[in-house]
Amino acid sequence: MTATISVNGSSADYPVHAGSVGPEVIDIRKLYGNTGRFTYDPGFTSTASCESKITYIDGDQGVLLHRGYPIEQLAEQSSFLEVAYLLLNGDLPNQQEHDEFKYLITRHTMVHEQLATFYRGFRRDAHPMAIMCGVVGALSAFYHDSTDIHDPKQRTIACHRLIAKMPTIAAMAYKYSVGQPFLYPDNSLSYTGNFLRMTFGVPAEPYVINPVVEDALDKIFILHADHEQNASTSTVRLAGSSGANPFACIAAGIACLWGPAHGGANEAALEMLREIGRPERIPEYVARAKNKDDPFRLMGFGHRVYKNYDPRAKVLGAAATKVLDTLGISDPVLDTARELERVALSDDYFIEKKLYPNVDFYSGIILSAIGFPTSMFTALFALARTTGWIAQWTEMMEDQDQKIGRPRQLYTGHGPRDYVPLAQRG
Ligand code: SDX
Repeated sequence: MTATISVNGSSADYPVHAGSVGPEVIDIRKLYGNTGRFTYDPGFTSTASCESKITYIDGDQGVLLHRGYPIEQLAEQSSFLEVAYLLLNGDLPNQQEHDEFKYLITRHTMVHEQLATFYRGFRRDAHPMAIMCGVVGALSAFYHDSTDIHDPKQRTIACHRLIAKMPTIAAMAYKYSVGQPFLYPDNSLSYTGNFLRMTFGVPAEPYVINPVVEDALDKIFILHADHEQNASTSTVRLAGSSGANPFACIAAGIACLWGPAHGGANEAALEMLREIGRPERIPEYVARAKNKDDPFRLMGFGHRVYKNYDPRAKVLGAAATKVLDTLGISDPVLDTARELERVALSDDYFIEKKLYPNVDFYSGIILSAIGFPTSMFTALFALARTTGWIAQWTEMMEDQDQKIGRPRQLYTGHGPRDYVPLAQRG
């Protein structure tokens, strides 16, 4: 099938490609050559940047599939490490593949001892995402044996190193912020249990992992693992398209994720809920969110793709109640969140604009109940999303069609003009 584009009396046909599911794409790679014109799509609202087999989202139906498996089933029945295998390799592992992958990842959980000195250069009150950007980028200064992006073996080792070391690096960022000593990984523990112990354990006594917390956090990691071509994943792909090493690409993804419109929304959402405080203050904030002259937006609400309920938010909303009940924690913020969701979803503004809670709306309530400060929330998002980023980066590196990403622009600045010496300027 083709699409015909006519401009100024001349027209040309462009191929239309169909995916296995979801919208078709119009291949406009020859548009500029044929017409001398670019497409114009700030924010890439109607632009497919690549072909991918990893994650599929149906925003209207609220569907999220990883390699075809619904996120609800993965969250309920799988583990984060198994989902990492699935995203990287395309299928769920059998027992031998699962055990081999777990062994490979645990072999890389420690970081180079000198990396610990990087933390000393930060203020104790540095934001953990500032530390993550710096330390993850610095990994490329240590692991020269896995920065040759054209060697598939080195690419695989770099993927395993990043998945394995992100919990260690994130835990060290937290420990540094509270002035406690770093704990080395204990590879007898699960991936998430290891992270919990490195974060909340101390050398002075054994750390007992609460299975409810371990399960809830592992579920949170699964729900944050990958999400198609979101802003940070697109950043990782764009960085990788220039041939940058994988550690530098993931550091770029961390920087992009930090923004409050993206991964930083989980921290901003809990702070917003705490600022609202009581349900009776909700109408004031909903009015502000609807006011065009007020930059305030409901954090954890709305999504570029989901025009229905974010399936991850559904799982997290249910998990929030279960985790708080099981831990015997009563957090009034959860009641505020529930009431805010009810009010917003019955308000014409949110209904007409199809604004629903997204992954960031409830996650902070659970993370706070587990004991994480809000400043760690986005670092946890980055820990989990590293698996998706590195799977997408690998897919791009294996794509024969991939080339350096280099968008064009609509130029509205000055036309040519001659330089005027300073003495002659008014
Ligand atoms: C993540 O892309 C991904 O997949 C991201 C992510 C992932 O897993 O990688 O899902 C993770 O980033 C989730 C989103 C977290 N961000 C927030 O919760 C911040 C609050 N949400 C908004 O900033 C916004 O909804 C975005 C950024 C998420 C989406 O913005 P879009 O797609 O550019 O949509 P938009 O800003 O054009 O909004 C459409 C309309 C606008 O009104 P009009 O200009 O049409 O009059 O809806 C309004 C917006 O003003 N709107 C909101 C709103 N979100 C959108 N109004 C009030 N509160 C909000 N939260």
